[in-house]
Amino acid sequence: MLVSLPSSSPLVFLPCILFFLLHSPPIATNELLGQLCGNGNYAANSTYKTNLNFILLSLTSNAALSGGFNSTTIGQSPNQIHGFTLCREDVNSSLCVSCLKTASHDIVSLCPSNIEAVVWYDQCLLRYSNQLSLSQTESSKEIVVWDIDMTIDVPLFQNLVNELLSTIADWAAYNTPRMFATGEVNFTTDFPTIYGLVQCRPDMGAGRCQQCLQEILTLIPEWLGQKRGGRVLRVDCNFRFEVYKFYDGTSMRKLGSPTPVKGK
Ligand SMILES: *[C@@H]1O[C@H](CO)[C@@H](O)[C@H](O)[C@H]1NC(C)=O
Ligand SMILES: *[C@@H]1O[C@H](CO)[C@@H](O)[C@H](O)[C@H]1NC(C)=O
Ligand SMILES: *[C@@H]1O[C@H](CO)[C@@H](O)[C@H](O)[C@H]1NC(C)=O
Ligand SMILES: *[C@@H]1O[C@H](CO)[C@@H](O)[C@H](O)[C@H]1NC(C)=O
Repeated sequence: MLVSLPSSSPLVFLPCILFFLLHSPPIATNELLGQLCGNGNYAANSTYKTNLNFILLSLTSNAALSGGFNSTTIGQSPNQIHGFTLCREDVNSSLCVSCLKTASHDIVSLCPSNIEAVVWYDQCLLRYSNQLSLSQTESSKEIVVWDIDMTIDVPLFQNLVNELLSTIADWAAYNTPRMFATGEVNFTTDFPTIYGLVQCRPDMGAGRCQQCLQEILTLIPEWLGQKRGGRVLRVDCNFRFEVYKFYDGTSMRKLGSPTPVKGK
């Protein structure tokens, strides 16, 4: 699998472009997918640094009590820090905490002394900043991960992936309490099932969730068009599809055959 940041994303932040190979098994590990570091630097012995150390510890323990998603603010301006964590909803508390511990450790070495930073993993996301809302750069930044090419029935495969992901995107936004959905659809003999997962930050509101997912789904033709598996991750929303099951639990949606073949 390859990981890259789309070149279309603006690089206002320090460029932290990654091009590396991932040897990722279906059962995910605490594997770093990407990071974004920005907004200038804090001083080594500053109050900001003390607050950062504190919020990283709090976020990890809060996440364990809040099902993976927590948003916390500590300190007084100008040393105030806002942080949030988001674990993949199908990941249990111990894996979520393990991922966030890795993230808290990595974020300070990946983005040393940066006033704001985001790190993405397969199973969790961690963000801190002196700003509560995401900057333009943060909200439009994507991490893209892809598998090798699909070689069989490509047009049908692409239609099914689109159908699956847009169906579960709407489902996650409007019909789930935590804006997370998984789904599957039958494909072909060699690859019987396509599996999909979508997730939004649970407090962002249904309309914004759907919009965020729709925006990243439009990146499929450019980045994941022929791929048999792929992911696009933003701070606020993400999706993934594969021809193997990569999430825990049964699929929340099972799609019927969308295009019955005429004459059969
Ligand atoms: C930062 O703290 C360390 C340990 O307390 C101290 O040795 C160092 O001089 C301090 N640096 C600054 C710039 O204050
Ligand atoms: C974050 O965790 C704290 C402590 O457990 C809790 O009081 C707060 O409600 C949580 N926030 C969210 C958004 O879950
Ligand atoms: C959490 O999930 C992992 C992977 O599915 C599993 O190995 C582990 O036993 C689970 N832990 C708990 C406490 O359920
Ligand atoms: C999908 O495949 C399974 C196993 O072959 C089958 O039982 C099921 O009916 C199929 N579903 C649809 C909607 O075709």
